[in-house]
Formats: sequence, structure tokens, C-alpha cells
Amino acid sequence: MAAKKAQNKKSAAKSVSPFDNKGTRLHDIPPSTDHLTFMSQGWAPSPLEGVSAHPSVPFTKKRRAKLSKAYKGVRLVIPAGNLKVRSNDSDFQFRSHSAYSWFTGIGAADAVPDSVLVLEPIPGKNGHEALLFIHPRSPRDQDEFFRNARHGEFWVGRRMTKEETETRYGITVRHIDTLPKLLKSKKKVLVIRGEDAEVDKIVKATKTQDKEFATHLSEMRLVKDQYEIDEMKKAIDTTARGFDDMIKTFPEAVKSPRGERVIEGAFFTRARIEGNDVGYPSIIASGSHACILHWIRNDGQVKKGDLILIDAGAETDALYTADITRTLPINGKFSKEQRRIYEIVLEASNAGIAAVKPGADYGDFHAAAMKVVAHRMSELGVLPISPEESLRPDRGLHRRWMPHSTGHMLGIDVHDCAQARRENYTLAKLEPGMILTVEPGIYIHPDDEFVPPEYRGIGVRIEDDILVTKDGNINLSAGIPRDPDAVEKWVRKLAR
Ligand code: GLY
Ligand code: MN
Ligand code: MN
Repeated sequence: MAAKKAQNKKSAAKSVSPFDNKGTRLHDIPPSTDHLTFMSQGWAPSPLEGVSAHPSVPFTKKRRAKLSKAYKGVRLVIPAGNLKVRSNDSDFQFRSHSAYSWFTGIGAADAVPDSVLVLEPIPGKNGHEALLFIHPRSPRDQDEFFRNARHGEFWVGRRMTKEETETRYGITVRHIDTLPKLLKSKKKVLVIRGEDAEVDKIVKATKTQDKEFATHLSEMRLVKDQYEIDEMKKAIDTTARGFDDMIKTFPEAVKSPRGERVIEGAFFTRARIEGNDVGYPSIIASGSHACILHWIRNDGQVKKGDLILIDAGAETDALYTADITRTLPINGKFSKEQRRIYEIVLEASNAGIAAVKPGADYGDFHAAAMKVVAHRMSELGVLPISPEESLRPDRGLHRRWMPHSTGHMLGIDVHDCAQARRENYTLAKLEPGMILTVEPGIYIHPDDEFVPPEYRGIGVRIEDDILVTKDGNINLSAGIPRDPDAVEKWVRKLAR
């Protein structure tokens, strides 16, 4: 009995949300009846002017048609996702699930949390009808628009109406409140699970089938269409300008106890001004921080004479991200040792990029880069076995200095197509339209006794974004200096 009481108490406590069902919080002041009445009156119509079709429309139509063909008669549910709590009643900025944005074209500006794309099989026919369930602009005769801190127009901005959304994205739009009824009607169904708590509650599907569905969607994105290639170019152009901005802050950064943050801030500003955000947390790693592969604390000092490894990518409003690394001498001049390591990495990068072509094995560019790393580290006198032996899969001692792989698919996710099957990704052949990173590095930890002291603490990575073409590849980020002389010139010109 006592246990039962305690349990009841627990569930009652659990149901107290920082938001009540109107999206108001404990510290919000309740409105009086007069206030409510007053707020429901006196609003002029305010339609969005000039809504027209989004440039993604012809592409998303094709993507949905392809998906429809693969899943005849099956209801397909792709949620945008719910808001994610940062702490207490504050959420992270919303970023829709990549599959949702890929099939709808809805990017940063128009994505509404809790929206769901459903491909509903058309009875008696092949094919599906695409139905977009959204929480449209709320009417002014209800109080959500000014009381709901999570969704209300006065708090988070105007959402589009159903009609506006249909015009812009070319999909039939329905109110989100009508979704449960549809989902409760019996039909074979597949869902992208784990993104929307309400959808997961209603749709009971087997985990294996949902996993296969996620895999299929991931694999559909391996080859990019022209819209995506153009978005990637935009992301890379913004990132290039962001690198210029960062270098300009070097003189200020060396004066600050947290110079890495000064540099990080400059990139963030550029990414936010021109695009949606950074596509992943920037790595701003000065000195030996460069040897920490995911150094995202970025709270270190930036010292003259050090190298700084910067791995940063801007995300466009359509949510495509660049992923670019440059390693730069803060004072505009590589030391002898820094240059030697830099040149090894550059040679590995060039060898890797040269191996990117249609018909090549995905693994070829990694192998080409690793060959350079093994041989050159051997020449440096640090590899205790021959490079040939080290390159055998059962040895790999050179990987002490390059523990990560040489790249990954890139697109609407920084590690794009991550649910794809190995046989269709890392064990497959490259095809025109794929975009991937080539990102070799050498990281010599400050306490690495296998390497002469003058090399310790040096970390270098060079990362470029490569488009596979019909007859080879294009390095989309080649415009950002990578040759050591050009890098020195670039830093000296801008870091003044
Ligand atoms: N910035 C993450 C990566 O390079 O994979
Ligand atoms: Mn990167
Ligand atoms: Mn990368």
C-alpha cells in the first residue's frame, strides 16, 4: 500500500511539465478574461506576400516518387522531429530531421517542430499521396498565438498557413491534429522512429523493419542531385569566407586567454549571417589541442609559433553542410618541423583525392592516403617496422599518428548516409554525384616518445569536399588555400 502511494506520488510529479497544455510556464502571468477578449480582437489579415514554389520542388517530387516505387502499398511516416530540451524549459534551436527535409525541401526557415510527412498509399492504385501534416499558423481567436511560449506566433514567430505551405513546397498539407486518426487506421506502415514521441506511440512497427527503412532512406542520398550539389557549393563558399574571417581575428586571438573562442565566434558569425548555423561543432585546436580529434571545447590559448587546426563547416538554410579543415601557422610561417608534417599530410591528401573517381572502390582513397602516411613516417624514422608491413591490415602501426578514417559521405548531414549498409557505402564503388570528404591528418601527441621532441605536439589535418564526376572529381573546396606557401601568404595577408 505504502509502495503504491509512493508510486502515485511519483507519477503525479512526473506529469508536472514546465509547460502546461497551453505552453505557458510557471513564471508566466495568467491573463484576465478581459485581457483574453481584448487579445482576440483587432488584428488585420496579414498574409505572406509573394509566396512561390521553392527551388527544391522538382527535386523533392522525384525523390518522393522514387521512394513510393520502392514501398508499394506501405504507409511511410517521416517526422520532422520534436524540439529537444537543452535544460529545464529551454529548448535547443530546432533542426529538422534530415530525411524530412530531404523529402520536403523544408529547411531552416520554414521547419515547424512536430510536423510529419506521410506517404499514404492511394487505394486501388500504385503510388502514394504525399501528405504534409503541420501545425499551421494559429488563428487569432484562440490564445495560443500570444500565450504559448513554445509555439505561439508572438514568441517564436509566424508559421505558414496550410495554403502558403502548399504553394511553397508543392505538397498537400493537413493540420497536425488530423494525423492521429490517419495513423490509427490500419495499414502496413514504416516509420523513422525515435524522432517524434507521439508518432512512436501510435505507430507500432517492428524495429527491424523501421531500421531497414532508415537504411533505405540513407542510401537514397548517396548520389546527390543538382539541387544538392548547388547547396554544397553554397555551404563551401560561406565556409571559405568564414576561414578568411577567422584568420582576420588571429591578432586579437593571441591576446586573449581564450583565443580559440575568438576564432570560433568569427566562424559562427559568418555561418549565421549567410546560412542557418554551423553544420557541426567547430574544432578550433591550437598547438597540441590539434592532436585531440574532437577538440570542441575551444577554450585554449592561441600562441604565436603554434599551428592551429580548424575544422569548420557552414550549414545552408536548406541544411547542407561543408566540412573543411585547414591547419595554419598563427604567425604566417611554418617552422621546419611543422612544414615537414604539413607536407606529408598534403601529399596524403593529394594522393587520396587522386583516387576519387567513378568506378574506384570507396576504400581506394583511404588506402592511397595511408600509403603516403606510412612511408613518410618511416622516413621520419619513427615507424618500428617497414611501411609495407605496417600497411598490412593486421599491422597498421602508422595509424598511431592517424587513428581516423580518411573521409566520409557529406551532404545534408555532415556524416551523411550513416545508416547505409557497408556493401552500399564503404565496400561499394564510387559513382558520379557522390560527395565525400578526404581528410588525412597526422597527430603527434606531446607525450609520444616514439617521435623526436621537436615534432611532439604537432597536429595537422587537411580536409576537402570532393564531388565525384563522370571522369574523375572536382575538389569543391580547392579555392581555400592548401599549398603551404599559399597558406603562409593567406595568413600573412589577412592576420594583420
Ligand atoms: N568535422 C567532423 C569530421 O571531419 O568528420
Ligand atoms: Mn571535419
Ligand atoms: Mn569530415
